[in-house]
Amino acid sequence: MRKVVTIVGARPQFVKASALSRAFLRSGMEEILVHTGQHFDDNMADIFFRQMEIPQPAYNLEIHSLPHGAMTGRMIEETEKVLLKEKPGVVVVYGDTNSTLAGALAAAKMHIPVAHVEAGLRSFNMEMPEEINRILTDRISSFLFCPTETAVENLKKEGFSNFPARVFNIGDVMYDVALHYSEKSSLKSHIISDLKLSGKPFILATLHRQENTDSKERLEEICNALNQLSHEYPIVLPLHPRTRKVLAESRIVLDFAPIDPVGYFDMIELMKNCAFVLTDSGGVQKEAFFFKKHCLVARDETEWTELVDLGYNFLVGADENAILTASQLVSGLNLSFSENPYGTGNAAEKISDILRSI
Ligand code: UD1
Ligand code: UDP
Repeated sequence: MRKVVTIVGARPQFVKASALSRAFLRSGMEEILVHTGQHFDDNMADIFFRQMEIPQPAYNLEIHSLPHGAMTGRMIEETEKVLLKEKPGVVVVYGDTNSTLAGALAAAKMHIPVAHVEAGLRSFNMEMPEEINRILTDRISSFLFCPTETAVENLKKEGFSNFPARVFNIGDVMYDVALHYSEKSSLKSHIISDLKLSGKPFILATLHRQENTDSKERLEEICNALNQLSHEYPIVLPLHPRTRKVLAESRIVLDFAPIDPVGYFDMIELMKNCAFVLTDSGGVQKEAFFFKKHCLVARDETEWTELVDLGYNFLVGADENAILTASQLVSGLNLSFSENPYGTGNAAEKISDILRSI
């Protein structure tokens, strides 16, 4: 297989695509990048292409800021047009966003094999749009690239051995990315000195998942906890535009100033230098671990269960008291973060080799 169409649209997908685009290039494959446009601010989109040297998308569908059905539907329609024109041998999709599902559906209906990177993850919470997207994408994919053994097991339990799809545990592409840019980010980012945080323990927080932003009670609990913690530690909260909008419309007040979303290099430096992380992000939960930091997960369940099982990450939900208690706990922990369930940092290479050989 020589020609691949890759669908990206949201921030975590740009990060992941950086590793696979490099691997495709090295192995002489032709990759056509399609950006659905789901994320569109410079600091949510273009900055990743610039910093991480991701090839410019051949297509930008410019579809964003719509309800789920309208967004996904328009993306399917426009992706189909691209696939009719490009006729790739395989379509690669990442993760669990609306762009993922739309890309997979458009391809599967045209009988183009779909390769799903980050297959098999389950939170078992069907109210999350991400859970719906990942289950449906897995079911119509031909190549299921799982990041962990847990993900492989999830697929087995759902009967995937009865389907024609091929399942691989190749490790986590985000680990490849973290390793690749770790040194470069130290050289390129000045965020620690810019924020006057050198030598100071601070908390890095991110918050954007619909389950938290769309519930005033949950958002209030998390913000109350952050406000309490801000009397003890500086809080660095690069605020997703979704959360900024909701906070502006609600009467929830932060006692500290959030910052705008940052690029990947700044994010990595924040991760390396913080005391611990509080997040509802999928990717940030793992990156905290890659940089040996404990992470409080502001969700009721996670698809990255290994880190909770290993005692590195803590599920705190949207519960002010649980967040404050866990903050005290992790401040006193001294674990070595020695077990790594996410492979060896060559997931992208493995995916590219498999797709090239079909
Ligand atoms: C999406 C994904 C989520 C992922 C997140 C990564 C779905 C269902 N959700 O959520 O799984 O964790 O991306 O960040 O696909 N907005 C801007 N500027 C931007 C991007 C978004 O203002 O650059 C605004 C949009 O106008 C919209 C809101 O943020 O009002 C939400 O954006 P949307 O893409 O629908 O979902 P995310 O919350 O980003
Ligand atoms: N990220 C970033 N800047 C930020 C917040 C996140 O570069 O201000 C990176 C983060 O390091 C990770 C990816 O974006 O690589 C995760 O994206 P996000 O949290 O938006 O999505 P999720 O992983 O929850 O789907």
